[in-house]
Amino acid sequence: MTARVVALANQKGGVGKTTTAINLAASLAMLEKMVLLVDFDPQGHSSTGLGFAKPDHNAGSYALMKGAPAHTLVLRTEVPMLQVIPTGKDLAQLEFELFEMPQLQELRKGLDAVMDEYDYILIDSPPALGMITLNALTAADEVIVPMPCEFFALDGLAELMETVRRIQAGPNPKLQLGGIVLTMADERTNLGSAVAQEVRTAFPDKVFQTRIPRNVRLAEAPSHGKPVAFYDLKSKGSQAYIDLAREWMEMGAANAAMTKEGA
Ligand SMILES: Nc1ncnc2c1ncn2[C@@H]1O[C@H](COP(=O)(O)OP(=O)(O)OP(=O)(O)O)[C@@H](O)[C@H]1O
Ligand SMILES: [Mg+2]
Repeated sequence: MTARVVALANQKGGVGKTTTAINLAASLAMLEKMVLLVDFDPQGHSSTGLGFAKPDHNAGSYALMKGAPAHTLVLRTEVPMLQVIPTGKDLAQLEFELFEMPQLQELRKGLDAVMDEYDYILIDSPPALGMITLNALTAADEVIVPMPCEFFALDGLAELMETVRRIQAGPNPKLQLGGIVLTMADERTNLGSAVAQEVRTAFPDKVFQTRIPRNVRLAEAPSHGKPVAFYDLKSKGSQAYIDLAREWMEMGAANAAMTKEGA
């Protein structure tokens, strides 16, 4: 197998990148896919959300960028088929280093050695369109954009799409927009539905049918160091991420079939 590499990206903060990274990764693993989650955000929320304290120097995704073999950095999680490369305390310095000496291919190179060991590699990225996110997009086959069902949700999306186009035109022609996930959906308000409709109109066929509801279990789970499915499997948040994983896997299978027909 060769892993499909997916970056979770949105330069806006607090939109559900990390929550989606952890819970989509865990859901895919529960559906018996072998999954690696790479925490590529200096905040380290994907690491702490899975119960890992930020490792010391030379033990996380910064070390991967510096040439440490990926398999030496991988940690096991409570979810049998989910593994993680956490963020070390040292990742924060990467943005500055990459600013001084731009380099876009390092993450992809770092992951190449373990591509055959996973079905999916998910990358959680920081709330910025800086060099760290550009490395994530250069490493990825597709980008998934979490977007809250809020007013101004579409703000900044044009910038993100322009960035995706530039990466496609430059270092990574195979990058695709995998889809937009509507997060923090509040079923009780009309605003949520109106925003969802607006996003679907702006990006026909690119918005996942599955909406992630605003659900307190999703916010609580990280403080227990667990994906929501291992904290409260029956919660609406947990079920929504399992639905999203199913929907996304089916979409991937359909795309693969189309590519084959086209070939
Ligand atoms: N569907 C949801 N329901 C309730 N709370 C949520 C939901 N999704 C995310 N949250 C909470 O909202 C906050 C922001 O979510 P998250 O950390 O996933 O966003 P992010 O885009 O990764 O943020 P950052 O840009 O800082 O990395 C967190 O406290 C998280 O627990
Ligand atoms: Mg985050």
